[in-house]
Formats: sequence, structure tokens, C-alpha cells
Amino acid sequence: MLVQPTLVTPTSPGSESMSTSTTHPDLSGRRVVVPGGTGAVGEGVVRAHLAAGADVVVPTRSQERADEFRHVLGDAADDRLHLVAHDYTTFPGAARLADEMERRLGGVDDVVAPIGGWWAGKPLWEIDENDWQSAFVGLASAHMAVLRAFLPKLSTRGTYTLIVGASALTPVPGSGLVSMEQAALLMMRRVAEAELTGPRRIHALVLGPVSTRVTGTAEPDWVSADQVGAIAVAASASEARSQEFRLGNRAEADQALAHLQAGRPARTGTVVTVSTMEPKDGRREDLVALLAELAPRIRAEPGCLRYTVHHTHGEADGPLLVIQEFTSIERFRQHSKTVADQIPRLAALLAKPPVPPALFEPVLQ
Ligand SMILES: NC(=O)c1ccc[n+]([C@@H]2O[C@H](COP(=O)([O-])OP(=O)(O)OC[C@H]3O[C@@H](n4cnc5c(N)ncnc54)[C@H](OP(=O)(O)O)[C@@H]3O)[C@@H](O)[C@H]2O)c1
Repeated sequence: MLVQPTLVTPTSPGSESMSTSTTHPDLSGRRVVVPGGTGAVGEGVVRAHLAAGADVVVPTRSQERADEFRHVLGDAADDRLHLVAHDYTTFPGAARLADEMERRLGGVDDVVAPIGGWWAGKPLWEIDENDWQSAFVGLASAHMAVLRAFLPKLSTRGTYTLIVGASALTPVPGSGLVSMEQAALLMMRRVAEAELTGPRRIHALVLGPVSTRVTGTAEPDWVSADQVGAIAVAASASEARSQEFRLGNRAEADQALAHLQAGRPARTGTVVTVSTMEPKDGRREDLVALLAELAPRIRAEPGCLRYTVHHTHGEADGPLLVIQEFTSIERFRQHSKTVADQIPRLAALLAKPPVPPALFEPVLQ
């Protein structure tokens, strides 16, 4: 039977523009290593993989940096984060890390490598051997060390994602060593793609400017570290063939995410929940504010695929519809326990006591 649908419009802040950046596929049980994860871009990658339910190993060259990064992550640093002081930037160091992951976690599924930052200062003809060794040889060697240690060990569902900047494609005067090193890494990926056999994949994310914890003012069109993280998670979850993704601005980031999600295996066992909430007189704005406050937390829960809030089309003052999707009924039950302490706050703003949401399973997808 066909029925006339009720049209609903997104209400919660951020629910339209790249809402998927904060809802992740379920990577529970995946063992992911993020060398360079302590960095500005790496933080987004680590947060997104933790939120997706993965076990995340972040090696760092100093204990001080490890402590600092744990502090940066705050509550997100749960028991699935394995932050280890270990020099992964040499061939033997990276090999030892890969062996140790196999021994302790039973293997490695995915690698995301946002290793290395920016270098600037001199035209090519003024570069001395110290600059060359640190900005070119050191960084290229670190990437090569990680690739050779981990690529052959990835599980058959595994993905290797290299993160570089657009200076790999466009020369930046005064930062030539970065351009040369990043271009070499892109070719490293291409060679590895040509040499790989079997289902494993190797992608590159080629970033423009990124807004991160260390950026001062960011332009509205800059991709955020969280968005880079969401795309890296989508790359780990997708079965899309090896390729390079340009993330020069938000439109390109949205496009890359949509492409990777289209290649994601069909969801099975997902549940969709629908709740209608009628606010008390004069409390609608408070209700929207509370739902928006809860949004980042709920979207970051393991297994959360969707959390959106809507109002009836053409009737911005009416009841609100909350739609959530979880990867399994178990994940949804866990979510219900997690948000139980918020029910009294919600109840105080509703015209009628809250009721459990209606639960739906897919018939067609
Ligand atoms: N931030 C941006 O706006 C931006 C824009 C475009 C592209 N990118 C690309 O994204 C990647 C990560 O950049 P980022 O801004 O996150 O850099 P970052 O904040 O400097 O972090 C890079 C991480 O790499 C590790 N590392 C290992 N060897 C290193 C070495 N020799 N020199 C410096 N760091 C080393 C460090 O981790 P440990 O010290 O913990 O080992 C560090 O935390 C780079 O490929 C960069 O080109 C960044």
C-alpha cells in the first residue's frame, strides 16, 4: 500500500552539511594503527576510528607526546586506544611495532598514516644537508618504513590510507622540500597499488588547508580534521578500489565521502528508531538546544549511523521527530543505557512523558 508521506525537514545544527562526518560505519573489532596520530590531522583520524568502535594503536616517538595527546583526547581516550611510546620512523622500529601488534592484538587490519607536518624557509638552492635529511629523507624514510612493515601484514579486509598535502601536486615556493617529499609519497602509493595483489587496498587523501586544534582562524571552506577522520574511517570500511582522493575543500570532502559510502557493503541487522517529541509551551528552543547538545556525543557512540532531528515541513513550531540508526539492536540498547541519565532533562521539556522510540528493521535498502 502506498501512503502519502509526511515531509520532514532537518532541524538540528549541522545535520545537513556532511552530517555523515560525525556518524561512522561500525569498525568494531578492527585493529587500526595511526602513525603520526598525535598530530593535528592525526587527532581527527584517531577520534573517528575510536568513535567507529575500532581498536586504535597510536605510536609516538616520545612519552611526553603520548601524555600530551591523551590529555588532548580527554574522554575519547578509552580502553580501545593503545598509545605507545615507540620509534616507528626507522625500518627496524616500524617492523618491531608491526610484530608487537600481531603478538598483542592478533594482527593488523588498517593503517592510516598522517606522518609529518610542514617545513618552510628557503629556496631549493639554499637548502643544506640538514634540511634535506630532516624534511625529505627523514619523513620519506618514516613513511617507507611504515609501509614496508605493515602493508604485507594487513588482513584481507585491510586498507592502507596515506595522508599528504596538495603541495605534492603544486609547488610551494620556499617549501620545495615538502612538495618533493609529498610527491614521492604519492608515487610510493601508486607503485604499491600496482604491486599489490588480492583484496587489500591503498588510498591517498590529498589535503588542502585543514582546520585543526592548532589552526588559528580557519576559512569556512576548509576541511576539518574531524572530516578527514570520517573519510579515513569510510575508506577503512569501504571496499572501493585503491585511489587518490583530493580534499581541497568541503565540496571535495563531501564527494569523497559519498563515493566511499557508496562502496560500503550493504548494512545488515541495522535498526532505525523514530521518536516524536512535543515540547511544553514556550520550551521548544530549549528542547532543540538539548537535542543539539546531545548530538555530537550520540553520533560518536559506537555503531551510530544516524542521529537527526526534524520538524514537519512548513510547520517550524510543531513537534520534533528524532531519527536514529544503529548498526545493531545491541548497539542501540547500549546507546539507551548511555543516554539514560539525560531522560529527566528531556522529560522536563516535553508536554507528555517520554515513551520508548518505535524500532524498525530494514525491509528494502
Ligand atoms: N595541518 C594541515 O593543515 C595540513 C594540510 C595539508 C596536508 N597536511 C598533511 O597531513 C599530514 C599530517 O600533518 P599535520 O599537520 O597533522 O602534522 P603534525 O601536526 O606535525 O603531526 C605529524 C605527526 O607526524 C609524526 N612524525 C613522525 N616523524 C616526523 C618527523 N620527522 N617530523 C614531524 N613529524 C613527524 C609526529 O608524531 P610523533 O611525534 O608523536 O611521533 C607528529 O605528531 C602531513 O602529511 C601533512 O602534509 C596537513
